Amino acid sequence: MPNERDELTGTETTGHEWDGIQELNTPLPRWWLYILYACILFSVVYWVLYPAWPWINDYSRGVLGWSRHVELNEEIEEAKAYRAQFVSRIEAASVSEIAADRELLQFTLAGGRSAFALNCSQCHGAGAQGGVGYPNLGDDAWIWGGSLEALESTIRYGIRSEHDETRDMAMPAFKSDEVLDDAEINDVAEFILSLSDSAGDASAAERGAAVYVENCSVCHGESGEGMHENGAPRLSDFIWLYGGNKADVVETISFSRGGVMPAWEGRLDEATIKQLAVYVHSLGGGE
Ligand code: HEC
Ligand code: HEC
Repeated sequence: MPNERDELTGTETTGHEWDGIQELNTPLPRWWLYILYACILFSVVYWVLYPAWPWINDYSRGVLGWSRHVELNEEIEEAKAYRAQFVSRIEAASVSEIAADRELLQFTLAGGRSAFALNCSQCHGAGAQGGVGYPNLGDDAWIWGGSLEALESTIRYGIRSEHDETRDMAMPAFKSDEVLDDAEINDVAEFILSLSDSAGDASAAERGAAVYVENCSVCHGESGEGMHENGAPRLSDFIWLYGGNKADVVETISFSRGGVMPAWEGRLDEATIKQLAVYVHSLGGGE
């Protein structure tokens, strides 16, 4: 027997009635139900395939064996292979070949930057700006040379380091070696300062010129321009490794300095040394 229809709404009733109140039969829409069934089906399939249910000490792993760890490890392996390809290209290339290859250069600079932060910044400063006794590597004043090859050599073998091929040159200690007396040291200091227009005493500077020619120009050059092959800094600029006050200059001439930069061959691998040379060269002052 078909159920009655509600008079007001015209909807079929279910036949349930409480105290004269009848229940209307309004089933869920079809589309809604189908989506619900599809979701249920999807979740059952998902539970079977993928990790889903926690147990007490473990969880259901799913028949596909998928896990974030596996996925992450695969990504790491891919990244390593990508990196290894660049590292072997860097090992095979010279520093100038690296600098000429755009793709390789990009990778090299990124590697050089992080190797610098790790190994060099404690002496040369985080931005390679240097400090007293530690040269600024971002300017265009170079003691031992700023070409890619010169930089590679400096970094590889060091300066006054323990390596057999280290860059090495000792400035005489003119006072303690008793080569010059205090007056001559004073004069030559004034002369050097006059090269950068910082001298106070013109007549002392004039006397100092002769002392300079006799004792200093072999290494520092006739007009104080410096010489890379001697590791003798240029004296005719305002850039001072050990300070440009008269007292600092007198101290350097009297006792010399002899700063040490460690050799990195053996401590850092081939590719890293080349990356550092190219990175330092890129800091702005490469020759
Ligand atoms: C323990 C301190 C120290 C560390 C660490 C150090 N250096 Fe040096 N570095 C020096 C000193 C000191 C000099 C200057 C030596 C001199 O008097 O000629 C120097 C000089 C240099 C020069 C030569 C600059 C020029 O004008 O010719 C370069 C290039 C250089 N360092 C690069 C590096 C790089 C790259 C690293 C990291 C791998 C590094 N240094 C780590 C102390 C250090
Ligand atoms: C044998 C080569 C040699 C001779 C000769 C020499 N120098 Fe030097 N000079 C150097 C070197 C190398 C340095 C780098 C500092 C160091 O590590 O001792 C230097 C550094 C200096 C500095 C420090 C520069 C700075 O930027 O702080 C001054 C100043 C200087 N020399 C002055 C003189 C004067 C003046 C004479 C002569 C009386 C002289 N030098 C003779 C090799 C020489």
